[in-house]
Amino acid sequence: MGAARRAGGRTGMAAGTRRGAGGGPSLARRSRLVLVRASESGAREAKVGVIFVCLGNICRSPTAEAVFATRVEMAGLEDAFDVDSCGTGGGSSNWYKPGGFSYHEGEQGDPRMRAAASERGIAITSRSRPLREEDFARFQYIVGMDESNLGAITLAATEWQVPPPEEGGYKVVSMADYCTKHDVAKVPDPYYAGGFDKVIDLLEDACEGLLGEIQKERGL
Ligand code: 4NP
Repeated sequence: MGAARRAGGRTGMAAGTRRGAGGGPSLARRSRLVLVRASESGAREAKVGVIFVCLGNICRSPTAEAVFATRVEMAGLEDAFDVDSCGTGGGSSNWYKPGGFSYHEGEQGDPRMRAAASERGIAITSRSRPLREEDFARFQYIVGMDESNLGAITLAATEWQVPPPEEGGYKVVSMADYCTKHDVAKVPDPYYAGGFDKVIDLLEDACEGLLGEIQKERGL
C-alpha cells in the first residue's frame, strides 16, 4: 500500500511536471510514462505476499520459499506473487527489540539442507534475515513452521504494535495445516534432530496445499 501510494505520488508528479518548451518530454511521451507507471504500480499492488517463517531462516523457511516459488513458477503465476522467508532470531531473546541480535543473519542456507534439497533439484539461494515490522504490511500470508515460530511472530507483532490481522489484511497461519498427504501438527526443526528429507517431504506437500488454497481464495 505504501509503495503503491508512493508510486502513485511519483506518477502524479510526472504528469504535472511543467518544464520549459524545449526541456520536458512531449505530451504523448508524458502520457505513456503515466500509463506505464500506473500499470507498474497496479501490478505491485496486486501481488500476493507470502513469507515463510522459522527460527533460524537457514533450514525450513528458505526451503519452503524455494519450493513455493518453484510451484508458483510452474503455475505461471510468478508475476502474481511476492515470496520470501525469514527467521525469528535463531535463538536470540532480543531479536525483535530495537538493536536486537539474530543468530545466522546474512548466512546462506544450512549446508545439510542445501544438499538434501539439491538432490531434488531445489536450489536454496536466500540469505537469513529476521522478521521485520514492515513484513506485516508487505505479506498477506505469514506462514510459521511450528507453534514456537507462531508464538514468536505474535510476540513481535505485539511489541511492534502492528494492526491486528483483520485490520492489517494479513493472516498468520501454520504450514502443517496445508499438508494434505501428511497428518502433522508442525514442520519439525531439523537443525539438531536431523530429518532433512522428511522436512522437505512436508514442505512440498504443504506448498502444494497452500498454493491451491491461495489460488482458490484469490481467484488465481
Ligand atoms: P530453522 O532451523 O529454524 O529451520 O532455520 C534452525 C536453525 C538454527 C537453529 C535452530 C533451528 N539454531 O539454534 O541456531
